[in-house]
Amino acid sequence: MSMRRSRAAIGIGAGMLMMTLPCMSVGAIEPTGDHRDVHGLGNPETTRVVAVALDLTVDFEARKLRGTATIAFERAQGSPPDAPLMLDTRALLIKKVNGETAAGEFEPAEFELGPADPILGARLTIKPGAGVKRVRIEYETSPGATALQWLPAPLTAGKKHPFLFSQSEAIHARSWIPLQDSPGVRTTYTAVIRTPPGLTAVMAADSLVTEAEAKQGIFRFAMSTPIPPYLIALAVGDLVFQPLGPRTGVWAEPSVIKSASYEFADVEAMITTIERGFGPYRWGRYDILVLPPSFPFGGMENPKLTFATPTVLAGDRSLVSLIAHELAHSWSGNLVTNATWSDFWLNEGFTTYLERRIVESLYGRDRAEVEGVLAMVELDDELKQLPEKDQVLHIDLAGRDPDDGMTRIAYEKGAIFLRTLEEAVGRERFDAFLKGYFDHFAFQSITTADFRAYLEKRLFDGKRPSVDLDAWLDRPGLPADRARPSSARLGTIDAAAKGWLTGSLAIDRLGSSDWSTQDWIRFLRALPEQLTVDQMRALDRAFKLTERGNSEIAHQWLLIAIRNHYQAADDRLESYLISIGRRKLVLPLYKALAATPAGKKRALEIYAKARPGYHSITTQTVDRLLGFHP
Ligand code: BES
Ligand code: ZN
Repeated sequence: MSMRRSRAAIGIGAGMLMMTLPCMSVGAIEPTGDHRDVHGLGNPETTRVVAVALDLTVDFEARKLRGTATIAFERAQGSPPDAPLMLDTRALLIKKVNGETAAGEFEPAEFELGPADPILGARLTIKPGAGVKRVRIEYETSPGATALQWLPAPLTAGKKHPFLFSQSEAIHARSWIPLQDSPGVRTTYTAVIRTPPGLTAVMAADSLVTEAEAKQGIFRFAMSTPIPPYLIALAVGDLVFQPLGPRTGVWAEPSVIKSASYEFADVEAMITTIERGFGPYRWGRYDILVLPPSFPFGGMENPKLTFATPTVLAGDRSLVSLIAHELAHSWSGNLVTNATWSDFWLNEGFTTYLERRIVESLYGRDRAEVEGVLAMVELDDELKQLPEKDQVLHIDLAGRDPDDGMTRIAYEKGAIFLRTLEEAVGRERFDAFLKGYFDHFAFQSITTADFRAYLEKRLFDGKRPSVDLDAWLDRPGLPADRARPSSARLGTIDAAAKGWLTGSLAIDRLGSSDWSTQDWIRFLRALPEQLTVDQMRALDRAFKLTERGNSEIAHQWLLIAIRNHYQAADDRLESYLISIGRRKLVLPLYKALAATPAGKKRALEIYAKARPGYHSITTQTVDRLLGFHP
C-alpha cells in the first residue's frame, strides 16, 4: 500500500492533508514502497496517533515523571469502528486508561500491556470502544527510563540544583510517553510540566509559559506542527536564557550562559545561509540548550531547541560545525524525516552535507574541506571494521537496536554521495534540486525508495543517472565515482609532523602558532602509534597538551598518552573521563586503555568513579566494552 493511499484512507486531519495536497497536485512522485517500521509495536496503519497532550509532574526524589498522556487518534477508513489502539511503551507503569465519550467525559477503557521485548519494550493495547477518539492514560515512568537522565546537583555546572533531560532518538520516546514511537507517525503535542520551585522547564516546542505560572513551577508548551516522536524533548534545571538574534537564543545554567552566547554568535548567520540556498526555516524560533557534560551526544536536533554538549564550548568557536549540523536538521530530518531507522542516512547524510555547506559559506572552503577530509579518515577507519552488510546506506536493522546500527556510514557515506551528485550535475542544479526536495516532502516521513524515485525523476529527468545509484544505495564500501574532499592545508600539517619526527624541523619551527583545532587534531593523528618518552615530553612542554581545555584536542592527546604510557597525563585522563560523558569522546579512550591488562585495570578503576555521571547511552556501550556488570 502506498503511503499516499494509506494516508488518505486514514483520513488524517485537515492540516495534514493540506500539507500533502500540493505534491498531489504536482502529481509527480508518490511516496512508494513499504513504510512499515520494524521498531514500532503500534498499529498506525489502522489506528493512528495524531495528537498527544501531556500533563506531567517532575519528581526528582523518585526519579519519575508522573501524570497523564491524552492521545487523540484517527482510524483508517474501512477499519472496524472499535479497532484497538496499539502503542509503544518501555518500562512505563500504566495505572489507568480512560476513553473520551461523545459527551466529553472520560470513562474507563479496557487495556492490556503485552510482554516486554528487550529492544522494543511492551505493546499497550487499548480498546477504546466505537466512536471514541481520545484516550487518557494515567502513568508514571520508571527511574531507569532510557530516555531520561536524572542528574543530582553535584553533576551540574552550578552544583546546587538537580537537572533532568530527555533524549528520545532513536526509540526512547516510548520510555517516557506512551505513543506510536515510529518516525513515520507524526504527531502534534502540548504539554503541562510541573516542576519543583526554582527550576525551569524547556521543551522542543512553542513556549506558552507565563511568569506567574513559572513561579509556581507550571510550564506550558505546544508543538502544533506534526513531528516524529523522537523529536519530543524536555529539560528541567536551573536555566537562564540569553537572546542571540531576533529568532535565536541560548539556554544554559547561569555559570555557562556567557561562554555559550559567545560560542554560538554565528547562529543567526547560519540560518540565513541555509535559507538562501534551500528554502525558509519553518520552525519559528531556533534556540540552543547547553546541557550538563553527561549529555551522551554532541548535539540533538530537537525542533526549535537544539540540545548541545558543553564540550562544544571551545572558547574560539572552532567546534561550531556541530551547531551547523543540528540546525541543518531543521530541513533534513525534522522537515523531511526518515520513515524508518533503516533510512537514517536520509537524516544524517543530508545533514552532514548541509553542515559542510554552512561551514563553507560562513568560514570558507578551506575549513569545510579540512572537516570533510578529517571525517573521511574516520569513515575509512570505520569501513575497515564494519561487516559488509552494515556498509550500505539503507541498512537492515530487523531484530537490532537502531542505536547499534548508527555508524559513520549514514553520515559520511551519505554526505559524500550527495557531494558526488552535486559534482555530477553542478552546484546550481543540485541546490535547486535540494530546495525542491525539501518543499516536496515537507513535514513528511519518507524512505530511501521515495528519495530514489524523486532523484531519478527530478535530478536526472528520468534518464540514465550519471552516478551509479545502485552502488551508492545498495552496495557496501565506497563507489569508485565518489567525490573526494581535499585540503592542501592538511598537507602542510602532515609535513610539519613528518619534519619534526625525522628531525628536520625543530619543535618551535612547526608554524603551530596559528593552528586551528582541526589542524591540531590532524597533527596529533599524524603521529605514529609509538613515541619515545622524550618525544612525549617535548610535545607536552612545547604545546601544553595535557593542560588543553579544548575537548577534541585533549581527546586526541589523551589517546596518544594512553598508547605511550605517558604518566604525566594520568590525572588529566582521569578528570577528563569523570567530567565528560559524551560517548564519542570517552569511548575511544576506554578502548585504548583496555588494549593492555594494566590499562584495562585502570579503565575499570576510573570507570567506577565516572559511571554514575554517565548517561545510559554511554554506560551501555562502555559496560559492554569493559565487560562491566553493574
Ligand atoms: N541526531 C543525531 C544524534 C543521534 C543519532 C541521537 C542517533 C540518537 C541516535 C545528531 O544530529 C548528531 O548527529 N549528533 C552528532 C554531532 C554531529 C556534529 C555529527 C553527535 O552527537 O556526535
Ligand atoms: Zn545529525
